[in-house]
Amino acid sequence: MSKASAGDSIWSGFYKRPVGERQKVVAGERGLDAADLAVLNKDGPLPLNVADSISENVIGTFGLPFAVAPNFLIDGKEYVVPMVIEEPSVVAAASHLAKLAKETGGFKTDYSGSIMTGQIQLVKLKDAKEAAKKLEAEKESILSEAQEMGGHLKSFGGGVQGVAVRTLASPRGPMIVVEFNVNVVDAMGANMVNTLMEKMAPSLEKRSGGTARLRILTNLAMHRIAASSAVWSAQSLGGEEAVEAILDAWAFAMADPFRRATHHKGIMNGIDAVGIATGNDWRAIEAGAHAYAAIKGASITTYSKTPDGDLEGKIVIPLAVGVVGGSMKANPCAALGQKILGAKSSGELARIMASVGLAQNLAALKALATEGIQAGHMRLHARHIAKMAGASEKEVDGVIEFMISGKQVNEAGAQAALRQLRSK
Ligand code: MEV
Repeated sequence: MSKASAGDSIWSGFYKRPVGERQKVVAGERGLDAADLAVLNKDGPLPLNVADSISENVIGTFGLPFAVAPNFLIDGKEYVVPMVIEEPSVVAAASHLAKLAKETGGFKTDYSGSIMTGQIQLVKLKDAKEAAKKLEAEKESILSEAQEMGGHLKSFGGGVQGVAVRTLASPRGPMIVVEFNVNVVDAMGANMVNTLMEKMAPSLEKRSGGTARLRILTNLAMHRIAASSAVWSAQSLGGEEAVEAILDAWAFAMADPFRRATHHKGIMNGIDAVGIATGNDWRAIEAGAHAYAAIKGASITTYSKTPDGDLEGKIVIPLAVGVVGGSMKANPCAALGQKILGAKSSGELARIMASVGLAQNLAALKALATEGIQAGHMRLHARHIAKMAGASEKEVDGVIEFMISGKQVNEAGAQAALRQLRSK
């Protein structure tokens, strides 16, 4: 049991204290020493006072590798893609598959538009069927009311585009959900949609005679879909048999939900990393992608052989991402990520992210279906050990080869490699 949970809570009013005091509380509670506090206070790209204004109970900032994946040719434009991720191999894999796709013209994409859907839940209805009928009949007037309330969205080209009424059977009896489709243009849109839902709720209560409970967007962004496809030559993937092996790996994900979960995890390795690097809400992206995949009951990527025996891949995924709003302004790292990428609109960002997801997926399938995923990881691990052991840039590759061929990927192996290299 932690000390805090035993008696009077030291956490009461914690959120009101300055960062330095919060650190002391956590240090006392969890035994942090001066070195730990130095980590918390180390100046990073996200200043502590800014972090403190973004979240609650902040005691420091948390670093993650900020990397870039070059080689992405998407709709004829070259991108350097920023990626924030702690997992080895992900960035290298995305960039490698992007490079191979470039040989055949790169990625071709599509975007449905930035339409988010907000939901208003109506309960305590005397007669849900009758209430739904009434709302259905009043749809035009509900829509114009919402359009008026969301009038400010027009200033940047957005606005409410449609309304739908659905009756749901629930464990608490029938309820109605009224859904609004809103064009949020270049924002992720959660704030816009949620504000509008809260504003519209009283009118729907009046019209239906019910009570509005939840007034929130859905992360299942069914009308904000990005697609990307590319062709990889069989030769670049390792030949005819490699293409067959990749198709088998993909078919496994199509046929089995257990495999599909991991297959999609690999896709999200890339998409989340770009989401974080550009200050987007990657939990929202994850929620949408997995719900979409669950509805489809299939992989969100598809692969087939072209008449020439090459491999064509395609991804279709809901992507609620923005280039304005959210933490983008507050977090200088996110602003930098956006600057490096240079996507000018939500759609452009979504198209890039879909392409990264596809590249990431194929990289994983290729590795898994051929040499296995551990070989690449092992090389990266070996590189890390070689550097820690003091290998110079010139020596690193030789040390890695020595360690891997001698099956001694550890400090001793690196030292032995260095002794041998330097004795020559
Ligand atoms: C690991 O982070 C991701 C993979 O498991 C994805 C996959 O299995 O397709 C390699």
